[in-house]
Amino acid sequence: MKIDYKETTNDLLKRIDIHNKFGGRDIDQWMLELLNIEKGSKILDVGCGAGKQCFKYYDTLNGDCTITGGDVSEELLSQARSENEKRGSAITFTKLDFNKPFDFPDNSFDLESCCFAIYYAEDIPFTIREMHRVLKPGGRLFTSGPMPSNKKLFYDVIREATDNKPTPPMPGSSRYGSAILETMKASFSKVDVSIFENPLTFTEVQPFLDYTRASLSEDRKLWTSFFQGKDDFDQIMKAIQKVSEDWLARDGKLVMTKVVGGFLATK
Ligand SMILES: C[S@@+](CC[C@H](N)C(=O)[O-])C[C@H]1O[C@@H](n2cnc3c(N)ncnc32)[C@H](O)[C@@H]1O
Repeated sequence: MKIDYKETTNDLLKRIDIHNKFGGRDIDQWMLELLNIEKGSKILDVGCGAGKQCFKYYDTLNGDCTITGGDVSEELLSQARSENEKRGSAITFTKLDFNKPFDFPDNSFDLESCCFAIYYAEDIPFTIREMHRVLKPGGRLFTSGPMPSNKKLFYDVIREATDNKPTPPMPGSSRYGSAILETMKASFSKVDVSIFENPLTFTEVQPFLDYTRASLSEDRKLWTSFFQGKDDFDQIMKAIQKVSEDWLARDGKLVMTKVVGGFLATK
């Protein structure tokens, strides 16, 4: 499956910021409790983006660990490297395309993570095989991604704003809890599944619109059936604004619940 997608630094950071400001729960805390990482661990974070999870691991272990963050986006890697320099932390950020063989020997890492990224893989079994190969025996792979019921409000508003125009399947919610989970189960000796629910509560429309804009532009190429004409994006955003204003006036708040799966596999 060829996926035409490119994350931009601004869109990714905008969504992370909105999760932090409007979410009731902390996803990193949830992940760290599940992982219970040990000092001295050798960790690889695949699809590390601007380094969010790498910095959490580093801070949790007070730097007593070896962390490599890999991503295909030079723009996000350079953002991660500047932050690394600013903090004086010793994380290695390197180019890694998970559609190609990983440039690491077999049995290298104690822990590997891939947060909100694995579903962009073109060939899931290939990527999971590579992830499995570079883990030490007994090592663990943690992935996170959206479950099918993720951010229902976002899709409900879009449907109402576009007179039920069919929304294209997103690689995350359409593949993460199904094909990806099944492939992990087939490759690893054990896979534990945890679900994280985080309601984002908006009492004004603007941050919800900012989130929607950042999500739709992130996945813009995946929404081709929605944005055929060159003005379509702005027109649909206007219709989304009208529906969200009406729903906010009716309900007093907009609640969009993130429903995330965390799959922890042991080699
Ligand atoms: C939603 S972001 C998540 C980033 C980070 N893990 C986080 O949670 O903040 C998805 C990431 O997957 C990366 N990605 C997409 N395709 C990739 C590929 N073929 N190889 C490696 N990374 C890829 C993107 O560049 C982006 O950084």
